[in-house]
This record gives sequence, structure tokens and C-alpha cells, in this order.
Amino acid sequence: MSETSLPFNEKYYPSNEKISSGEKRKQEWEKSLSNPEEFWAEKAKAIDWFKKWDKVLDDSDAPFYKWFQGAELNISYNALDRHVKTQRKNKLAYIWEGEMGEVRTYTYYQLYREVNKLAKVFKDLGLKKGDRIAVYLPVIPELPITLLASARIGAIHAVVFSGFSADALADRINDSGAKLLVTADGSYRRGKTVAIKDNADRALESTPTVEKVIVVKRTGQPIQMKEGRDIWYHDALAAAGANVYVEPERMQATDPLFILYTSGTTGKPKGVQHGTGGYLVWAYWTLKWAFNPTEEDIYWCTADIGWITGHTYNVYSPLSVGVTSLLFEGTPDYPAQDRWWDIIERHGVTILYSTPTAVRMFMKFGEEWLNKHDLNSLRILGTVGEPINPEAWKWYYRVIGKERLAIIDTWWQTETGGFMIAPLSGIELTPLKPGSATFPLPSVKAEVYDEKGQPTPAGTKGFLVIKSPWPGMLQTLWKDPERFKQTYFGRWQNTYYTGDYAVKDPEGYFWLLGRADEVLKVAGHRIGTVELESALVSHPAVSEAAVMGKEDAVKGEVPVAFVTLRSGFQPSDELRAELIKHIRNTIGPIATPDAIIMVNKLPKTRSGKIMRRVLKAVIVGAPLGDLSTIEDEASVEDIKATYEDLRKQLTK
Ligand code: WTA
Repeated sequence: MSETSLPFNEKYYPSNEKISSGEKRKQEWEKSLSNPEEFWAEKAKAIDWFKKWDKVLDDSDAPFYKWFQGAELNISYNALDRHVKTQRKNKLAYIWEGEMGEVRTYTYYQLYREVNKLAKVFKDLGLKKGDRIAVYLPVIPELPITLLASARIGAIHAVVFSGFSADALADRINDSGAKLLVTADGSYRRGKTVAIKDNADRALESTPTVEKVIVVKRTGQPIQMKEGRDIWYHDALAAAGANVYVEPERMQATDPLFILYTSGTTGKPKGVQHGTGGYLVWAYWTLKWAFNPTEEDIYWCTADIGWITGHTYNVYSPLSVGVTSLLFEGTPDYPAQDRWWDIIERHGVTILYSTPTAVRMFMKFGEEWLNKHDLNSLRILGTVGEPINPEAWKWYYRVIGKERLAIIDTWWQTETGGFMIAPLSGIELTPLKPGSATFPLPSVKAEVYDEKGQPTPAGTKGFLVIKSPWPGMLQTLWKDPERFKQTYFGRWQNTYYTGDYAVKDPEGYFWLLGRADEVLKVAGHRIGTVELESALVSHPAVSEAAVMGKEDAVKGEVPVAFVTLRSGFQPSDELRAELIKHIRNTIGPIATPDAIIMVNKLPKTRSGKIMRRVLKAVIVGAPLGDLSTIEDEASVEDIKATYEDLRKQLTK
């Protein structure tokens, strides 16, 4: 998206909401920054602590900020026990719908019982505080149950998205040093079964730290159960007994809760580490502020729990607030393109929190699919994961929201733990602008910097930075504090570098403009181009690889790979298919490139650096600009010719 085409002056006033000047919101924001300790001490009252903090914010070892230093709590206690003691005991915590249409529900009390049983299983296996539990599961109720049971005993969970390959799973297990893996016999995708246990078995060939594997029976497909290592989930739970209570571990607020791997600018994924107290306070308040859920809401965040959005907004936020959430295992277009609208109608969903990619997909499917359904239960809409283009925003607003519902565009990252820039219906909504996430949340001192670290003038694009700590921020990168410091605080002192471009308009609204680094957002999934390049060059046919994003009408962007081949290999469709298979095996299907372009040479600077800018220009058909540093202009022509050729072949 280019900042020059943004509709800075278009304003929307959804009729379902009271829209005002933003004075109240501004006051909260200012209060949070002028006296963070007082502000957060007050907010933290919403959480049940076993012991109060000595200090709200200890910044003596910045950027390793310590929130609620000295306090003790347990997150599963906050998500379950405290509701079970109230009228919420029999309220639904989850309504789960499987891909094949089956529905399972859990009240807070039922969820509490399941979590206690699994926590006992974990303890009986010898797991204790600080141990890591790797999780490789589809979106089934056992996934949040596993996370909560892990939190209950003080273990650290490391969830790996179930679409990742065996190699990707093994890398993450090994980095985290997990002792236990929780997985399933299989999963469903568009009516077919996926053999995720086979992937797990392959990964486990090279993960020496894993001692036991708990296997949930989901599909019933035949699998290998390794004697002495693999245990059925249902057997283990049955053995744990019917009425089990496991005392929730007293965790320090600063103890880690989970590791979640995400892509960055090097080949090795980053183990983003989140803590307990600050993260929970942030998870709780950000949901309250943005969506203002009530006891009656049926809240549906469509994310997979394998990503941060699912961790925070399918598990820790809604459960700590006491909301009823819907979890859905399947895809939006199976068995038909109205699956989501059908779900909303049948379950009476009131809050829909989804992605720009989904919105653009529904635009493509056509309005007739949703016109078949009564969507009047909806009262507010949300979006996350990638910039929402104004056309998609307006469609979402007009067609789904009927100009009644606010669109809560939430900008945030795996690292930030929760929302950072978003309209806040729980404090005060200001007029919305199509494609703007509006203003920063309390505690979020967002700014747009130029290359030199100076704030850019209104309307000028720059780098989005956060100039003060907030409770939900990552604690560090797992076992790599240096990389943490370097990646996020290395560019400007005491200033968190987001890696995103943004622009602030003359009224102070923030507009997010996509990644400023080598990270792609493909259908909202975060993929490092360097990871893809490493995967490609690990194939014997590939000598060099350069991957970049290309704009896509539905997915936002898609990866396009340029490769040069080793001698003895010739470009062919078979080789292309093999490379795609290789990427699916080393990373997973989400990283599948849109095109693999085989060229003789890549454009390089005199110092040998691949000129990505040139490749990008080739892809988008833009002028190449200044090529004075390129060794050999012929290679550009080469690539151009090959690319044109390929496009022709593809469109035939
Ligand atoms: C992008 C997902 C524009 C952004 C929660 C960020 C967004 C990256 C938005 C983090 C949004 C997320 N508007 N861009 N509302 N939300 N992004 O770690 O580039 O998977 O840096 O976290 O997604 O992706 P991650």
C-alpha cells in the first residue's frame, strides 16, 4: 500500500456505537504514560494474585523489563478456578465446531475439570515448573486444555502450528528442549485427513529431549504408537481419575508462560518468550478495551491457536475475562462458501474477529453466500494480521456490518502479546477511517521514525516504533537475550523496533503499511524470506535463491522465488514441482511459493549482495531505477525474459 493513496479524510460513524471526540481515550493514554505504575496497579486488580507485587515495573535492566516484580499468580487459576467460584461456573467457556460439523461445548466448570485431569497426567509423568511442553495439535478443545494444564503446573508451552512440517517441528522442539509432545493421530482439512502423527514421528527421530508423547484421538486413522513413548490422551485422562484437583503452581509474574516461534530476518525462527503477570494483565485489558465483551456475547476469533492471535485471543484473554468463545476447526469454504455465515447464524455469534485475507476471499465468493443467512446477531467486527486495504475495509463495513458495526482493526505482533493500535469500543470510539487502525492503546507510545530516528512529519511514511514498555511485551527471545536486544532495541536506544512501516495522518491516526524487513505476511501468516531461501538452497539442485513478496488480491502477498541451479540441473516443470514439495516438507504448505523462477544469474552488487530491489521491480513491472552498482546488467534482462516467459506459460 502506498501512503499517497490512503483515504485520510474519509470518516465512518457506525450506527451501533457511540462515536465521540476521543477525549476520554486520550486521557487514559496520557494517564498510562505519565504514571504507569499507578495506572497498571489499578488495572491489575482485575486479576487474582496469590501475592501482590513489590514493584509494578522494574526497568533497572532495560530492555529486559519486569512487570509486577515479586507478584505471584497462576494463569489457569485466573482462566478457570475464579469463574468456577462464581455464577459463571456453568456458563459456556467454549463452543467448538469441528470441520465435519460436530459440536462440543465446555462450561467453565467442565473445562476446569478437564484441565485438572490433564495437569495430573503431566505431573504423574514427572513434569514440573519450568519444563517445556511442545504442542502440535489442530484446533480441537484438547489444544486449549493442554495450554491451560501446562500453565497450571508451571510448565512452559511451545505450540507449533499443525500445518508446519516435520522438519519445522523438530527445529522448534529442539530449540525449546521440550520433554513432552502433545499431538493427535490426525487432523481434518477440507474433508480429508492429514497425517500429523506421521509428521510428529518423523520429527521425533531427531529430538532427543522428548521422553513422552501424548496422542489425542481425533480422526481414528491407523498410526504407529511407539511402545514406552506414546500414550493415548484418553487413556491417560481416564487413569488420572474422575475428580481430580491439582493445586495451581504459584508462579512469579515474571516466570515464562510460553514460547512461540515466529519468523524474522534470519533463517532461524525466533522463540518469542512471554511471561505470566504482565502478559495476562495485557491479555485481559486489551480485549476489554477493544471489543468490550459482555456476559451475553458469543465471541469468535477465527485464528488458529498455533499462532499468537489464537494464544491470546482464543485462550488467555477470553477465559480470563469470562467470555463464551467459539472455536472452529475447519476452513471458511468447506463444505461450501457460506460455512462461516452458517456458523454465525447457528451459534448466534456477536463478535467476529478475523483477517483481511478472509474478507477479500468473501468479496470474491460474492454476496449471495451471506445473503442466505441471518447475521443480525453480530454487533462488532475485528481484523488482524496484515494491513487491511480500504476497499476490503469498506466491504466488511457495508456488507457484513450493514454500516451498523464498528470495525476494530487491531495492529499487533507475536512479540507484543496483544493489541497495540486499535479502536477501543470499551473506552471510547472515535470516527473510523477505512484502513486505519486509529490510535495506540494506553501504555503504547507509538511513533513513526525516519531512517535517522527522527519523527516523520504527518503524512510521511516511516518505521513504526514504540517508545515505552507495556505489560504484554515479550520478555526476551528463548535462550537468546543478545538477539532480543539486537533485533528489537538495537536500532534506537530504549525504543522497540517493530519492523513495520507506518504513516501518521494529520489527525494522528496510524495507518500500517506492511513490513519494512524481510518478513512476508502471506494470508496473514508470518514467513521469513530467509527461511524460504534456506529451504530452497538445502535442495541439491539449487545453488542460490532469492525470495520476495508479490502483491496478491486475496492473500495480501505471496512468495515468489528466484533460483539459480547447480551445474547438471536444467529448469523443468518437474524440478519446479520437486522444489515446491521440498518447501512443503521443510517448512510447510503455508510457505508454498506462488512461482519459482529459474534463472541463469541473480542481479548482484559489486560486493556480491543479491539486489532484491531489482527482482522486486521485475515482479511488479516497475522501472528498475538506478543500476549503477550492478556488475552485469545482462542478468537483469535474463531474469526479465525468463519471468515474462514463465508468466506466459502460467497464463496459458
Ligand atoms: C502485521 C499477528 C497491519 C504487521 C498478530 C506485524 C498488521 C505482523 C496488523 C505481526 C494490522 C498485524 N494491520 N498489519 N491490523 N496486524 N499486522 O507476529 O506487519 O503473526 O508486524 O502477529 O503482522 O505478525 P504476527
